[in-house]
Amino acid sequence: MHDDGYLSLLSHDSFVSGVPHKTFARLRREDPVHWTDGDNETKGFWSLTRHADIALANKKSHIFSSAQGIRLEDQSHEEYMARRTFQETDAPEHSGVRRTVNPNFAKPVVSKFEALIRELAEGIIDKALESEEFDAVDAIAKQLPMMMLGRILGVPDEDLDWLVEKGDALIGNTDPDFTQHVIDKVDTNAYRMMPFRSPAGVELYDYAEDLLKNRRAVAEDGILAKMMQDENGLKELDFKNFFCLLVAAGNDTTRYSIAMALNMLAHDPAMIAQLRTGKYWDTCADEFIRFAAPTMHFRRTATEDYELHGKTIRKGDKVLLWFVSGSRDEKMFDSPDDIDLGRTPNRHLAFGQGGIHVCLGMHLAKLEVRIVLEELVKRIDTFVATDAPTWTRSNFICGVKRLNVRATKAV
Ligand code: HEM
Repeated sequence: MHDDGYLSLLSHDSFVSGVPHKTFARLRREDPVHWTDGDNETKGFWSLTRHADIALANKKSHIFSSAQGIRLEDQSHEEYMARRTFQETDAPEHSGVRRTVNPNFAKPVVSKFEALIRELAEGIIDKALESEEFDAVDAIAKQLPMMMLGRILGVPDEDLDWLVEKGDALIGNTDPDFTQHVIDKVDTNAYRMMPFRSPAGVELYDYAEDLLKNRRAVAEDGILAKMMQDENGLKELDFKNFFCLLVAAGNDTTRYSIAMALNMLAHDPAMIAQLRTGKYWDTCADEFIRFAAPTMHFRRTATEDYELHGKTIRKGDKVLLWFVSGSRDEKMFDSPDDIDLGRTPNRHLAFGQGGIHVCLGMHLAKLEVRIVLEELVKRIDTFVATDAPTWTRSNFICGVKRLNVRATKAV
């Protein structure tokens, strides 16, 4: 869809050709606290698009609350209670669960996965390069996050394709390539108590229940086993929702970050040459993730009236924090629409930095992006896109779904 600077942020179709960055740039410039009217399905909402305002709202989590839902969809209290994870709670409730899960994702813990990630990445890329032409999202970007999520959770490899398909259906609930139950096209009322209002949520709940009832084995050193053994652990529904959150959050986000990097490389051989110099390994992952910002927004709800740039956000109003826009704010970044592999500092917001909900998996995601690129550039001579990429249909998650490339191996 052509971005004339005025696309609707409510419509998923505004995002089918990629993020409407012109629209976001105009909003940052002219209307930083922007109101979008709702429709029959969804109530109207505010959008914050400037880096400084998003950072502010993220800090003031007592005013911009996560505890009435974090996506645009309106939920009854009953639906919210059935589906919420700790991501949909505020302090102090949030802090308790976060403390329990944090140690599993801390940087030193995640760094220990480096050798495993490298081994998996080597195998994935060698296999992809057996063909001269392939879809780099399917063959590379999708594979590593899926395999690593399996290791982290402690579920068997043979379940991974199934789990990822269900995770895609959850997070891609507005895209007909991922689900038949496209949320703004068909009646999904029957699934309103399920994660992402999706039938895939039912199947993932069943899987999680099997884990809890020991009908399915999990690896002892995986996070699920640890959470099940923890005396202060999550109750059954919380465990199921946490499981769905990890399957959804741990997969597509990293996939689309890798896919964005591959997309840039496949259109710019100079960038491959830059990476080969070895100077950018400490900084490039953040830059590709800034550029991709795959979870474009998360929602908050105002707990009191709040004035910002001459507008009054009313108590109870929904407020979207557009991390994707803040991460391209020209007031914060020089040449925000260009990739600068050495960008330092890089204060992007793609992980929701600055707030209590800052991404749990960010160290893991960054490590995966860096290593897969290191292993790729070692092995390729050329890597070129053969047609235009296709994008997800969603105003929530953005990513390259298909990237056909022709590649030759390094000799
Ligand atoms: C490049 C990849 C990733 C991106 C861009 C990303 C993005 C985000 C963002 C923006 C938030 C903040 C949500 C908010 O403010 O409400 C978040 C939270 C979260 N992410 Fe990620 N994520 C990524 C990878 C991962 C991975 C690999 C995992 C797990 C394996 C993960 C698990 C989570 C969880 C559990 C939360 C909720 C944390 C909380 O509420 O305290 N994410 N992520």
